[in-house]
Amino acid sequence: MSVIHTAFVAGLSGGWRILRVDAVVGESLAMAGRLAVAGPGEAQSTATTGVQWRLDGATGHARYATRHELDTLGAVQQGLGRPEARCAALIPIRKNPAWWALAQDERRAILEEQSHHIAIGLEYLPPIARRLYHARELGQPFDFLTWFEYAPEHAEAFEELVARLRRSAEWQFVDREVDIRLVYD
Ligand code: HEM
Repeated sequence: MSVIHTAFVAGLSGGWRILRVDAVVGESLAMAGRLAVAGPGEAQSTATTGVQWRLDGATGHARYATRHELDTLGAVQQGLGRPEARCAALIPIRKNPAWWALAQDERRAILEEQSHHIAIGLEYLPPIARRLYHARELGQPFDFLTWFEYAPEHAEAFEELVARLRRSAEWQFVDREVDIRLVYD
Protein backbone atom coordinates (compact mmCIF):
# COMPACT_ATOMS: atom_id res chain seq x y z
CA MET A 1 0.00 0.00 0.00
CA SER A 2 1.47 3.35 -1.01
CA VAL A 3 1.32 6.26 1.39
CA ILE A 4 -0.70 9.24 0.21
CA HIS A 5 0.29 12.49 1.88
CA THR A 6 -2.51 15.05 1.81
CA ALA A 7 -2.95 18.62 3.06
CA PHE A 8 -6.37 20.05 3.88
CA VAL A 9 -6.15 23.83 3.53
CA ALA A 10 -9.05 26.02 4.65
CA GLY A 11 -9.16 29.54 3.30
CA LEU A 12 -10.29 31.41 0.22
CA SER A 13 -9.73 28.78 -2.47
CA GLY A 14 -10.31 25.12 -3.15
CA GLY A 15 -12.87 22.88 -4.80
CA TRP A 16 -14.98 22.36 -1.68
CA ARG A 17 -17.24 24.99 -0.09
CA ILE A 18 -17.37 24.78 3.69
CA LEU A 19 -20.94 24.66 4.99
CA ARG A 20 -20.18 24.45 8.69
CA VAL A 21 -17.48 23.78 11.25
CA ASP A 22 -18.77 22.29 14.52
CA ALA A 23 -16.78 21.39 17.61
CA VAL A 24 -18.00 17.99 18.82
CA VAL A 25 -15.47 17.66 21.67
CA GLY A 26 -12.77 20.17 22.62
CA GLU A 27 -11.55 23.19 20.72
CA SER A 28 -13.00 24.00 17.29
CA LEU A 29 -11.28 25.18 14.11
CA ALA A 30 -11.99 28.53 12.45
CA MET A 31 -14.74 28.81 9.88
CA ALA A 32 -13.52 29.50 6.34
CA GLY A 33 -15.06 29.79 2.89
CA ARG A 34 -13.34 27.03 0.94
CA LEU A 35 -11.27 23.90 1.47
CA ALA A 36 -8.49 22.75 -0.85
CA VAL A 37 -7.50 19.09 -0.67
CA ALA A 38 -3.93 18.91 -1.90
CA GLY A 39 -2.61 15.48 -2.76
CA PRO A 40 0.96 14.25 -3.14
CA GLY A 41 3.15 16.82 -4.84
CA GLU A 42 0.56 19.56 -4.48
CA ALA A 43 0.84 20.18 -0.76
CA GLN A 44 3.81 22.53 -1.11
CA SER A 45 2.18 24.62 -3.81
CA THR A 46 -1.07 25.41 -2.01
CA ALA A 47 -2.15 28.96 -1.30
CA THR A 48 -0.48 30.71 1.59
CA THR A 49 -2.55 33.89 1.62
CA GLY A 50 -5.88 33.88 3.40
CA VAL A 51 -5.23 30.47 4.94
CA GLN A 52 -7.26 29.91 8.12
CA TRP A 53 -5.76 26.54 8.96
CA ARG A 54 -3.97 23.62 7.39
CA LEU A 55 -4.03 19.99 8.50
CA ASP A 56 -1.68 17.32 7.14
CA GLY A 57 -2.14 13.59 7.13
CA ALA A 58 -0.86 10.47 5.44
CA THR A 59 -2.57 7.21 4.67
CA GLY A 60 -0.90 4.18 6.15
CA HIS A 61 -1.21 0.49 6.78
CA ALA A 62 -4.27 -0.87 8.57
CA ARG A 63 -3.60 -1.39 12.27
CA TYR A 64 -6.70 -3.17 13.51
CA ALA A 65 -8.72 -4.61 10.64
CA THR A 66 -8.44 -8.38 10.18
CA ARG A 67 -7.80 -10.13 6.86
CA HIS A 68 -11.49 -10.93 6.58
CA GLU A 69 -12.53 -7.33 7.32
CA LEU A 70 -10.04 -5.95 4.80
CA ASP A 71 -11.32 -8.33 2.13
CA THR A 72 -14.93 -7.38 2.89
CA LEU A 73 -14.08 -3.67 2.76
CA GLY A 74 -12.13 -4.14 -0.46
CA ALA A 75 -15.07 -5.87 -2.08
CA VAL A 76 -17.64 -3.17 -1.32
CA GLN A 77 -15.93 0.18 -0.79
CA GLN A 78 -16.04 2.90 -3.43
CA GLY A 79 -13.24 5.24 -4.36
CA LEU A 80 -13.16 8.99 -3.78
CA GLY A 81 -14.12 11.43 -6.51
CA ARG A 82 -17.42 9.90 -7.69
CA PRO A 83 -19.22 12.69 -9.57
CA GLU A 84 -22.49 12.13 -7.65
CA ALA A 85 -20.72 12.29 -4.26
CA ARG A 86 -20.97 16.07 -3.91
CA CYS A 87 -21.18 16.06 -0.10
CA ALA A 88 -18.15 15.55 2.09
CA ALA A 89 -17.17 15.52 5.73
CA LEU A 90 -13.71 16.15 7.14
CA ILE A 91 -13.64 14.97 10.76
CA PRO A 92 -10.29 15.47 12.52
CA ILE A 93 -10.06 13.40 15.71
CA ARG A 94 -7.63 13.18 18.63
CA LYS A 95 -7.66 10.38 21.20
CA ASN A 96 -6.58 10.81 24.81
CA PRO A 97 -3.42 9.53 26.55
CA ALA A 98 -5.38 6.60 28.07
CA TRP A 99 -6.01 5.28 24.53
CA TRP A 100 -2.38 5.60 23.52
CA ALA A 101 -1.26 3.85 26.72
CA LEU A 102 -3.18 0.71 25.70
CA ALA A 103 -1.61 -2.19 23.86
CA GLN A 104 -2.55 -2.86 20.24
CA ASP A 105 -4.76 -5.85 21.14
CA GLU A 106 -6.62 -3.80 23.78
CA ARG A 107 -7.27 -0.99 21.27
CA ARG A 108 -8.53 -3.48 18.68
CA ALA A 109 -10.91 -4.98 21.27
CA ILE A 110 -12.38 -1.56 22.06
CA LEU A 111 -12.64 -0.51 18.42
CA GLU A 112 -14.31 -3.63 17.13
CA GLU A 113 -15.37 -6.23 19.71
CA GLN A 114 -16.86 -3.56 22.02
CA SER A 115 -17.74 -0.75 19.61
CA HIS A 116 -18.33 -2.61 16.31
CA HIS A 117 -16.77 0.30 14.43
CA ILE A 118 -15.99 -1.72 11.31
CA ALA A 119 -19.23 -3.73 11.36
CA ILE A 120 -21.32 -0.56 11.78
CA GLY A 121 -19.30 1.26 9.11
CA LEU A 122 -19.78 -1.59 6.63
CA GLU A 123 -23.57 -1.15 6.89
CA TYR A 124 -23.15 2.24 5.18
CA LEU A 125 -21.04 1.04 2.26
CA PRO A 126 -20.92 1.44 -0.68
CA PRO A 127 -22.75 4.84 -0.60
CA ILE A 128 -20.24 6.41 1.81
CA ALA A 129 -16.66 6.51 0.48
CA ARG A 130 -13.95 7.02 3.10
CA ARG A 131 -10.26 7.60 3.59
CA LEU A 132 -8.38 7.55 6.87
CA TYR A 133 -5.23 9.68 7.27
CA HIS A 134 -2.85 9.34 10.20
CA ALA A 135 -1.61 12.66 11.56
CA ARG A 136 -0.26 11.94 15.05
CA GLU A 137 3.06 10.72 13.65
CA LEU A 138 3.38 14.01 11.74
CA GLY A 139 3.19 16.03 14.98
CA GLN A 140 -0.23 17.40 14.03
CA PRO A 141 -2.84 18.72 16.48
CA PHE A 142 -5.11 15.74 15.63
CA ASP A 143 -4.27 12.02 15.54
CA PHE A 144 -6.51 11.24 12.56
CA LEU A 145 -8.08 13.08 9.68
CA THR A 146 -11.12 11.20 8.46
CA TRP A 147 -12.64 12.08 5.08
CA PHE A 148 -15.99 10.93 3.68
CA GLU A 149 -17.77 11.53 0.36
CA TYR A 150 -21.42 10.77 -0.39
CA ALA A 151 -24.31 11.81 -2.59
CA PRO A 152 -26.91 14.23 -1.13
CA GLU A 153 -29.50 11.42 -0.84
CA HIS A 154 -27.22 9.61 1.63
CA ALA A 155 -26.68 12.61 3.91
CA GLU A 156 -29.22 11.32 6.44
CA ALA A 157 -27.59 7.89 6.55
CA PHE A 158 -24.24 9.56 7.19
CA GLU A 159 -25.71 11.48 10.17
CA GLU A 160 -26.99 8.21 11.60
CA LEU A 161 -23.57 6.59 11.14
CA VAL A 162 -21.66 9.33 12.98
CA ALA A 163 -24.27 9.37 15.77
CA ARG A 164 -23.91 5.60 16.28
CA LEU A 165 -20.12 5.75 16.39
CA ARG A 166 -20.14 8.70 18.81
CA ARG A 167 -22.22 6.65 21.27
CA SER A 168 -19.63 3.82 21.25
CA ALA A 169 -17.04 2.88 23.88
CA GLU A 170 -14.28 3.87 21.45
CA TRP A 171 -15.49 7.47 21.40
CA GLN A 172 -15.01 7.79 25.17
CA PHE A 173 -11.33 8.06 24.31
CA VAL A 174 -11.88 10.94 21.87
CA ASP A 175 -10.78 14.21 23.47
CA ARG A 176 -10.96 16.48 20.44
CA GLU A 177 -13.25 16.18 17.44
CA VAL A 178 -14.30 18.77 14.87
CA ASP A 179 -16.97 18.06 12.26
CA ILE A 180 -16.55 19.98 8.99
CA ARG A 181 -19.18 19.60 6.28
CA LEU A 182 -18.63 20.53 2.68
CA VAL A 183 -20.22 20.60 -0.74
CA TYR A 184 -18.49 20.44 -4.11
CA ASP A 185 -19.60 23.44 -6.14
C1 HEM B 1 -10.57 3.48 11.73
C2 HEM B 1 -13.90 1.58 8.82
C3 HEM B 1 -16.69 5.47 9.43
C4 HEM B 1 -13.34 7.41 12.30
C5 HEM B 1 -11.26 2.61 10.92
C6 HEM B 1 -10.78 1.31 10.52
C7 HEM B 1 -11.69 0.80 9.69
C8 HEM B 1 -12.77 1.75 9.57
C9 HEM B 1 -11.61 -0.54 8.96
C10 HEM B 1 -9.51 0.63 11.03
C11 HEM B 1 -8.33 0.86 10.14
C12 HEM B 1 -7.13 0.09 10.69
O1 HEM B 1 -7.17 -1.16 10.71
O2 HEM B 1 -6.15 0.75 11.11
C13 HEM B 1 -14.92 2.49 8.71
C14 HEM B 1 -16.04 2.34 7.81
C15 HEM B 1 -16.82 3.43 7.95
C16 HEM B 1 -16.19 4.27 8.97
C17 HEM B 1 -16.30 1.16 6.86
C18 HEM B 1 -18.07 3.74 7.17
C19 HEM B 1 -18.16 4.80 6.39
C20 HEM B 1 -16.06 6.31 10.30
C21 HEM B 1 -16.57 7.59 10.75
C22 HEM B 1 -15.62 8.14 11.56
C23 HEM B 1 -14.51 7.21 11.62
C24 HEM B 1 -17.92 8.19 10.33
C25 HEM B 1 -15.63 9.47 12.29
C26 HEM B 1 -16.74 10.06 12.73
C27 HEM B 1 -12.28 6.53 12.34
C28 HEM B 1 -11.06 6.79 13.07
C29 HEM B 1 -10.27 5.66 12.89
C30 HEM B 1 -11.01 4.74 12.08
C31 HEM B 1 -10.71 8.03 13.86
C32 HEM B 1 -8.87 5.43 13.48
C33 HEM B 1 -9.02 4.71 14.78
C34 HEM B 1 -7.69 4.39 15.42
O3 HEM B 1 -6.74 4.01 14.70
O4 HEM B 1 -7.61 4.52 16.65
N1 HEM B 1 -12.47 2.85 10.35
N2 HEM B 1 -15.05 3.66 9.40
N3 HEM B 1 -14.82 6.10 10.87
N4 HEM B 1 -12.22 5.30 11.74
FE1 HEM B 1 -13.67 4.45 10.66
